[in-house]
Amino acid sequence: MSGFSPEWLALREPADHRARDADLEQRMAAHFAARTHVSVVDLGCGSGSNLRGTAKFLPDHQSWRLVDYDAQLLALARHRLVEWADESRTEGTLLRLRKDHKHVNVSFVEADLTRELAQVLTPAPDLVTAAALFDLVSEPWLELFTAALGAAGLPLYTVLSYDGRQEWQPPHQQDGRVLRAFNGHQQWDKGFGPATGPRAAAVLSGLLEARGYAVHTAGSPWLLGPDDPDLRHELATGIAAAAVETQELTPEEADGWLAARREAGQAMIGHTDIFATP
Ligand SMILES: C[S@@+](CC[C@H](N)C(=O)[O-])C[C@H]1O[C@@H](n2cnc3c(N)ncnc32)[C@H](O)[C@@H]1O
Repeated sequence: MSGFSPEWLALREPADHRARDADLEQRMAAHFAARTHVSVVDLGCGSGSNLRGTAKFLPDHQSWRLVDYDAQLLALARHRLVEWADESRTEGTLLRLRKDHKHVNVSFVEADLTRELAQVLTPAPDLVTAAALFDLVSEPWLELFTAALGAAGLPLYTVLSYDGRQEWQPPHQQDGRVLRAFNGHQQWDKGFGPATGPRAAAVLSGLLEARGYAVHTAGSPWLLGPDDPDLRHELATGIAAAAVETQELTPEEADGWLAARREAGQAMIGHTDIFATP
């Protein structure tokens, strides 16, 4: 399963929504509570999970611009949002949704964030969001991004940046090597230059603070137990494959770790959420 495959995004969505830090959700909600309408740009939207997880914390009337460079994921996002909503209507390319008492208009933008960031942030929204994106990007890109946010005075709410921590139970003798290899792989170029990987939230927070932002961070770990066998299985498979790609583990060593991990009862995978206001 690739990092952006529809199957993987569907598998991780419930764990992602469970993991988000509740205090930060409330802080973000409080920031916009006095408004009747809010406009949001979601970067790297995939199948639209972040909208589904965030809309209930925002005012009753919302306009979202969902941005991704993958046209098939944008089409899937439209489909999944129609399924999620209580009512939906299409007007041209715009999707009008009602979910509970939230009225959510959604537009879809196919754009590559490595080249089209300025266009994506124009016209300026009230809020920029992203889920499971910033560990893919490079530090120079984050500098450009935070400069653009700062220049327009835009708040940022981002969830689920991988932070490099993993704890699998019961422990296995190869855990340390596998984690080092995987965290190294997380810093490979994902299209934006060498990725910040596990350092993403720390780098992003530092850059925002340097621009005078008030930055609030909180942990949002996946806590996977007996009810998440498919996610644990796919996750361990992806970690083992990445570890082998780095050549720090032989395929046989990775297979041994993977076989044990398929039996593992629990896993904690660390993430960080950030809400930052200018
Ligand atoms: C790990 S997925 C997260 C998707 C979604 N935010 C979620 O939480 O399920 C990363 C997303 O970023 C998108 N992406 C990666 N590189 C991109 C780029 N250069 N421009 C636009 N989107 C990109 C991928 O297509 C994918 O949908």
